[in-house]
Amino acid sequence: MRLIKILIYLLVFQSSAQQGGMWIPSLLQGMNEQEMNQLGSKLTAQDIYDVNNSSLKDAIAHFGGGCTSEVISPKGLLLTNHHCGYGEIQSHSTVENDYLQDGFWAKNLKEELPNEDLYVDFIVRIVEVTNSVLQGLTNTMTEQQKQALITKNSNAIEKAAPIEPWQNTKIKSFYKGNQYFLFVTERFEDVRLVGAPPSSIGKFGSDTDNWMFPRHTGDFSLFRIYADKNNRPAKYSKDNVPYRPKHFLPISLDGVAENDFTLVFGFPGRTNEYLPAVAIDQTVHTINPAAIGIRETSLAIVDKFMRSDQDIKIKYASKFASIANYWKKWIGENQGIEKSGAIAARKELEVRFTNLVKQKNLKAYSHLLPEFDRLYAEIKEVSLARTYWSEIGYRNNELLRACLFAYQLVNTYHSRGKEAFEKRLPSTLNRLDRIYKNYSAKVDMPVFEALVEKYISEVPSSYVPASYKNLNLSKTTKEVYASSAFTALEKMRALFEGSPKEIVDRISSDKGYLFAKDLHQMYYETINPAFQKTNLEIAGVQKTYMKALMELFPNERFFPDANSTLRVTYGQVKGYAPRDAVYYKAVSYLDGVMEKYKPGDYEFDVPQKLRDLYVAKDFGPYADINGKVPVCFLGTNHTTGGNSGSPAIDAHGNLIGLNFDRVWEGTMSDMNYDPEICRNIMVDARYILFIIDKYAGAKHLIDEMKLVHPKK
Ligand code: ARG
Ligand code: ASP
Repeated sequence: MRLIKILIYLLVFQSSAQQGGMWIPSLLQGMNEQEMNQLGSKLTAQDIYDVNNSSLKDAIAHFGGGCTSEVISPKGLLLTNHHCGYGEIQSHSTVENDYLQDGFWAKNLKEELPNEDLYVDFIVRIVEVTNSVLQGLTNTMTEQQKQALITKNSNAIEKAAPIEPWQNTKIKSFYKGNQYFLFVTERFEDVRLVGAPPSSIGKFGSDTDNWMFPRHTGDFSLFRIYADKNNRPAKYSKDNVPYRPKHFLPISLDGVAENDFTLVFGFPGRTNEYLPAVAIDQTVHTINPAAIGIRETSLAIVDKFMRSDQDIKIKYASKFASIANYWKKWIGENQGIEKSGAIAARKELEVRFTNLVKQKNLKAYSHLLPEFDRLYAEIKEVSLARTYWSEIGYRNNELLRACLFAYQLVNTYHSRGKEAFEKRLPSTLNRLDRIYKNYSAKVDMPVFEALVEKYISEVPSSYVPASYKNLNLSKTTKEVYASSAFTALEKMRALFEGSPKEIVDRISSDKGYLFAKDLHQMYYETINPAFQKTNLEIAGVQKTYMKALMELFPNERFFPDANSTLRVTYGQVKGYAPRDAVYYKAVSYLDGVMEKYKPGDYEFDVPQKLRDLYVAKDFGPYADINGKVPVCFLGTNHTTGGNSGSPAIDAHGNLIGLNFDRVWEGTMSDMNYDPEICRNIMVDARYILFIIDKYAGAKHLIDEMKLVHPKK
């Protein structure tokens, strides 16, 4: 019996020991280094992160604060996803030069295109500062008092840290506030667009294939970092020169095989791996269904218009894709949690936890789980209301969103006066302009009616504005869209003429604004304060719970939740079995692109040139030993949103792929990573090189890279 137990323990421990987790690059020595070596890595912890010598980390840059990117040449050439550079590619596009549709390739440095708002951040060093951040905290303080002191301490430490004039500092919380690290960073603000494939390659398969495997998307784009003459960060100037990086990634031409070691290095945004069962239950059964339902309603309406009107199709393409992205993700997440029995497993862990606490008589921990139950019950309704507000008042209806920006501006006037108003006005107008650039009142109106209807009928009544009850919504909708200025760019702009007082008065008598105001006021005055109050208490309990878990289960691996800081995750190239009798192999090929090819289709069209190369088998050195061009591959690397654009690195530190997505069945990895079915999806580096070289004819870019054969 005992032997069986040990065997089971070993099996469970072994399979979970090597997979999952997003690790802090400066702390890889020891366990992580050993695990990586067991998986086939030849890298040392210092190869990955070193403060005194150049290391892999010096090639990794946070791209615009959202995605990840990496330097792949000694001249600052930067690789990221097509969907990460999408906004920049779009902003340079016109009807005559549509780079989204046709792709873009700069033939020389002069043709590279500057991007006003784009920046990338490198990590110079990471320093633990837990004791100084928590200095002065006592158990008698309220959560608010603790938070205020932590903020004060952090600000002081950030200011006092020794840095160069061109560097910045930022402190971030880890393990739910049990540990703090200071990041010294360098921001480059002259980042130019170098190349992008057409969307029929970079976004091939679009929403239908999003979050799915088999995948055939060449989701990459190229930028270049420019620096001043001293190789330091500088604002855009035509005198700037290509940045000479401390390190750049060589690219492997040898490709990947099942079980090969892979490391993904990047900036994962947010995960929540240590929630109690009651919290997962609430997300899966209350919050996600509400958000999915709202998006389903709005997507169905927008889709109908997009299908029948070419102009609307172009205007709404990007918005539709971004709303559809998380709509689809949440559906997959719910299915994964359900199927993997994650809630029951979490409850089992909690039984073990409770028993240990009793056994060891740990009074400080005995209240934690009951507290979670109480607090999650308390927050449930308001959390739901908050989801409805953000999805309806902000995310899915543009009249309501425009009025939110106006509402914030009007409030600034009332609470902080004329000057504050004037200071805020330009950014408000900027945000409003962006809404109306791609706006159609014809589409927005039915979305408004359907979503407000949902709000009124599905949100707990104490969070529904009084004026919304007993409303003839269809009549109100018509009146709002007939008279409100928030239905077209020029009308909206005209509201903002004259003195602050005139503007405020004019906005405040707009019918659409008056309707939206009641909703936004409900949020700011009732929903959000109630939510924040309970949420802060939950955070306090979660902090102690995290500490307790680590103390009570000393043999388990605990990694800190993602928080948009630089992390290392590693695993192997591996296929998976999503359901009975189905197995997805780890690698997809160009043949699959041709199988999916639908002439003229907006998701599955294939450029003529690519079809020609395929027929002629003109693959250069980029095919595998069977003469096939690999396109995408799967790995067991634990990734999340923000890891898009992260390099997949081989056992020797070479680039083998570019991360861009996860498989649908595994999107629950944000709450419950399961090495059986969670897979990240990467573009094979050889496909990227093939497209740059053979498709785009941009050989000069290949020439500045370092191509290697580590397997030979
Ligand atoms: N699902 C990926 C991520 O979360 C890719 C999204 C971009 N592609 C799209 N079809 N929307 O960002
Ligand atoms: N596609 C995501 C991103 O843009 C990555 C993921 O969620 O797996 O970061």
